[in-house]
Amino acid sequence: MSISISVDISTENDIVTARQKGRFLAKELGFSIVDQCRIATGISELARNIFLYAPTGKIIISSIVKNSRQGIAIVAEDNGPGISDIKLALLDGFSTSNGLGMGLPGCQRLMDEFEIKSELDIGTKIVIKKWLD
Ligand SMILES: Nc1ncnc2c1ncn2[C@@H]1O[C@H](COP(=O)(O)OP(=O)(O)O)[C@@H](O)[C@H]1O
Ligand SMILES: [Mg+2]
Repeated sequence: MSISISVDISTENDIVTARQKGRFLAKELGFSIVDQCRIATGISELARNIFLYAPTGKIIISSIVKNSRQGIAIVAEDNGPGISDIKLALLDGFSTSNGLGMGLPGCQRLMDEFEIKSELDIGTKIVIKKWLD
């Protein structure tokens, strides 16, 4: 059975909700506590970026299967301003808001797969995945 949960992001509380739902599904799928934490942190960072920069959008958390391997996928989508230089945005410490600039690069390190598509004035779509061992 495949599960998909969508959380609209428009308030800080929605970030917490997305994080909790992600952690719950990760736990249900059998991810270790350390991986649950990585997945929840990735979701938080993407949801916070939507809230800060878009400033609304959604997080979709799904169970996925590939080559009989179970995994979790998170899609973060918004119709915000987009990212003008994706390479720059993925560098440790790069921030346009005086943030730590670790959200996107951190997320990339915490997950197994990381894809980003962004168009100026159209929006941003980021897909992250983690597979069970
Ligand atoms: N959804 C988004 N829409 C527009 N810009 C974004 C989005 N997510 C990230 N960015 C841009 O990428 C930069 C780096 O993001 P991140 O690594 O999370 O660091 P921080 O949020 O601390 O600045 C942000 O400062 C912002 O300019
Ligand atoms: Mg961030």
